[in-house]
Amino acid sequence: MMTGPKSEGSQVRRAVCPGSFDPITNGHLDIIGRASKLYDEVYVAVMINKSKKGLFEVEERIELIREVTADYENVRVEAFHGLLVDFCKQRDIPAIVKGLRAVSDFDYELQMAQMNNGLSGVETLFVPTNPTYSFLSSSLVKEVATWGGDVSHLVPPLVLQALNERLKQD
Ligand code: PNS
Repeated sequence: MMTGPKSEGSQVRRAVCPGSFDPITNGHLDIIGRASKLYDEVYVAVMINKSKKGLFEVEERIELIREVTADYENVRVEAFHGLLVDFCKQRDIPAIVKGLRAVSDFDYELQMAQMNNGLSGVETLFVPTNPTYSFLSSSLVKEVATWGGDVSHLVPPLVLQALNERLKQD
């Protein structure tokens, strides 16, 4: 059997899918599901950004992600603030998995990948987004839903329900 170099200190292959997830979309879910097939443990890391109020509180986002990823036994969901590389270091995670929707994503993602690698040696793996979701973002989902557009094919049913309830309140 061919064996390659293992990550230092652990035989468990871990990766993180980071993001704001305000809220999680089918595009995110697709990337998380694919990462969960490639790694032993996948952390979904929800960024706490105190300077930007989201539609959902971080705890609500986490709860939604936990519920819609409940079938993936190797996926865990946590909040983080500060640097993503510190989250990775604390949990012995050598890889960040990111979806790339289009070339326009690439410039900024490349900068972040290079910065993160320079800071701590963590690698970034890019997964091409399923073309069905290449236009999809949480911001667009919120905007379309705010004006009564149909987003039922873009988010899991539970998220759709949460979105409708939240937007009714506003
Ligand atoms: O879903 P988003 O908002 O596009 O996710 C962006 C995220 C959370 C992946 C990115 O902003 C991030 O990693 N933030 C953590 C702070 C950090 O490590 N910044 C340096 C990046 S090089």
